Amino acid sequence: MRTQVGIVGAGPAGLTLAQLLRAEGIESVVLEARSREHVEHRIRAGVLEQGTVDTLVGAGAGERLRREGIVHHGIRLQFGGERHRVPLSELTGGAAIVIYGQTEIVKDLIAIRLAAGEPLLFEVEDVAVHDLESDLPRITYLHDGRAHELECDLIAGCDGFHGACRAAIPAGVLTEFSREYPYGWLGILAHAAPAHDEVVYCHTDRGFALLSLRSPEVSRLYLQCRPDEDVAGWPDERIWEELEARAGIPGHSLNRGPIAEKSITGMRSYVAEPMRHGRLFLAGDSAHIVPPTGAKGLNLAISDVTLLAEAIAGRHRSGGTALLDAYSDACLRRVWRAEHFSWWMTSMLHRPPDADPFDLRLQQSQLRYVVQSEAMARSLAENYVGLAGAAALTVPGAPAPA
Ligand code: APR
Ligand code: PHB
Repeated sequence: MRTQVGIVGAGPAGLTLAQLLRAEGIESVVLEARSREHVEHRIRAGVLEQGTVDTLVGAGAGERLRREGIVHHGIRLQFGGERHRVPLSELTGGAAIVIYGQTEIVKDLIAIRLAAGEPLLFEVEDVAVHDLESDLPRITYLHDGRAHELECDLIAGCDGFHGACRAAIPAGVLTEFSREYPYGWLGILAHAAPAHDEVVYCHTDRGFALLSLRSPEVSRLYLQCRPDEDVAGWPDERIWEELEARAGIPGHSLNRGPIAEKSITGMRSYVAEPMRHGRLFLAGDSAHIVPPTGAKGLNLAISDVTLLAEAIAGRHRSGGTALLDAYSDACLRRVWRAEHFSWWMTSMLHRPPDADPFDLRLQQSQLRYVVQSEAMARSLAENYVGLAGAAALTVPGAPAPA
């Protein structure tokens, strides 16, 4: 079998890329290791930057997002028992964020692709990529018990941090940067009306807590915990009590309700450079990971594939590879900005395991500075809503885009 672009992974990166390419008349095949049921029920983050919304709407995948997405013009920072608003839109000339679960984006994109009859295979096994430095890279895999081979012009590695694509790049090609944090996030999805109208990031002596939401009926709530902690040690009652202890302030107690999902994830920062080897292009979590404080993971993945689709379309139209050659550097500029921002938010808000009162006072002072200084608040705000243009594709020697 032959296709123009072989896409490994049906997360937001792979599915959005396939949809963007289809709009350009470029065919692709998407290969996913897990079942449709599995990918449609993985609970992930849910804060979309304007650029992410624009890409999804522009790709024809924004119908439900526009109907059900909740626009927020600010976030809250809570510390020392007080809640302060960071007015994102006021500070950024009108930019906002949209609350819409990554899981919902994945469902929307899968439905569109299958309705169009375009190839998207689930439960594919033993995916391997070959001949990456040749003009005809290949993907081999097992599906329905049979071995298959897919010849491609290009391969997009959208298979997440533990996928097969980055791992297939020969040793010595990539430079890797990483940091593990001594924190985990215990996340719950609760059928309880959010008692807060905006996302609230809470710094406390007991550790970090985050109040978010998915709809007027569903809250998404997180607690800092140890990265290796067993979720069994967190019965519902303990979670609600700890959330109340960290996030409750007079007049703002939480609404409780049945907990639909409960999980613990570790936190890391990671970047692999470059995001390309021969005809293999990495996008999303396969190339970089951020800790979730700041909600950049999904937005970076969509930003990568927006640039990748543009570069592939450029090659398709003119045969030239200048945009593809510029892909990795363009992505990495934005990736590193988000890496820094996510690391900074994480460090400012979490309680280090060995924290002493000095650490906590420094964090509180930094938080106070952010809410009191317009310059600091604006810096947080413009990073939070996404720095437009931070990742424009530029080709050396060509005029800069307007
Ligand atoms: N073969 C095929 N598919 C694979 C393989 C493989 N060897 N390994 C992993 N996959 C699939 C996974 O099952 C998953 O569906 O690749 C997909 C990768 O999707 P994500 O992990 O969601 O990554 P990405 O699309 O880059 O989106 C990044 O996801 O993890 C969050 O916070 C992150 O929001 C960010 C977003
Ligand atoms: C979420 O709603 O899941 C969420 C919100 C903000 C974050 C991370 C996750 O920083």
